[in-house]
Amino acid sequence: MTAVWKKTAALTLDAAPFAIRAERTSDVVAREALLDASFGEGRHARTCQRLRDGRMPAEGLAFTAVRDGRVVGTVRLWHVSAGGIPALVLGPLAVDASCRSLGVGAALMEHALAAARTRGHGAVILRGDAAYYRRFGFSADKTGGLALPGPFERERLLAVELREGALDDAFGMIVATGDKARRPRARAAGKARQVLVEAA
Ligand SMILES: CC(C)(COP(=O)(O)OP(=O)(O)OC[C@H]1O[C@@H](n2cnc3c(N)ncnc32)[C@H](O)[C@@H]1OP(=O)(O)O)[C@@H](O)C(=O)NCCC(=O)NCCS
Repeated sequence: MTAVWKKTAALTLDAAPFAIRAERTSDVVAREALLDASFGEGRHARTCQRLRDGRMPAEGLAFTAVRDGRVVGTVRLWHVSAGGIPALVLGPLAVDASCRSLGVGAALMEHALAAARTRGHGAVILRGDAAYYRRFGFSADKTGGLALPGPFERERLLAVELREGALDDAFGMIVATGDKARRPRARAAGKARQVLVEAA
């Protein structure tokens, strides 16, 4: 577990430490509530969601920020093909409104990018504000030939190369390539119960 403090906030009384760790199954309910609060319920219609629907995040690349035992931040990365080139798409990134500007978002980003690099991934793409993501090396320099499967603003399609030149020939549609998500157990269990009731 990696404890992190933002230097400028570390001396204030309400600057409780936070930690970044691998996402756990038990984080999912809190994560979804955090995403609803951060992006609104229309978040499922967002263009990048098309790259996540029915997929698993990339192995070892889903992280949770925890503060006082509570889920306060989330970030995940997903396998895509960027016009035929293997890459990752990052998102959603969200931090609980009560914990913003403490460096939680930056810690999640740095942790996620370092983990992606360690695992040998060549590039990370996202749709977001350059004003925020620039500090992590993201720019639109290598995304001019790429498109998302839905509406997007060209200046918000950003990427960072983890291996120099990884996106040099990236041209075309970004499409999901991650493993398909398994069917939720609750549904399977419910179905089994229904079969038993019908059989009784
Ligand atoms: C964006 C977000 C994840 C940042 O989390 P955070 O923990 O506050 O991030 P950090 O503490 O590392 O950085 C905060 C700084 O980034 C700035 N910042 C936040 N969002 C920004 C944006 N969209 N554009 C430019 N700067 C931004 C803040 O003003 C703050 O500046 P300060 O350090 O001068 O106070 C968080 O604000 C959030 O969850 N927002 C709602 C969801 C969202 O927009 N996610 C990103 C999708 S593009």
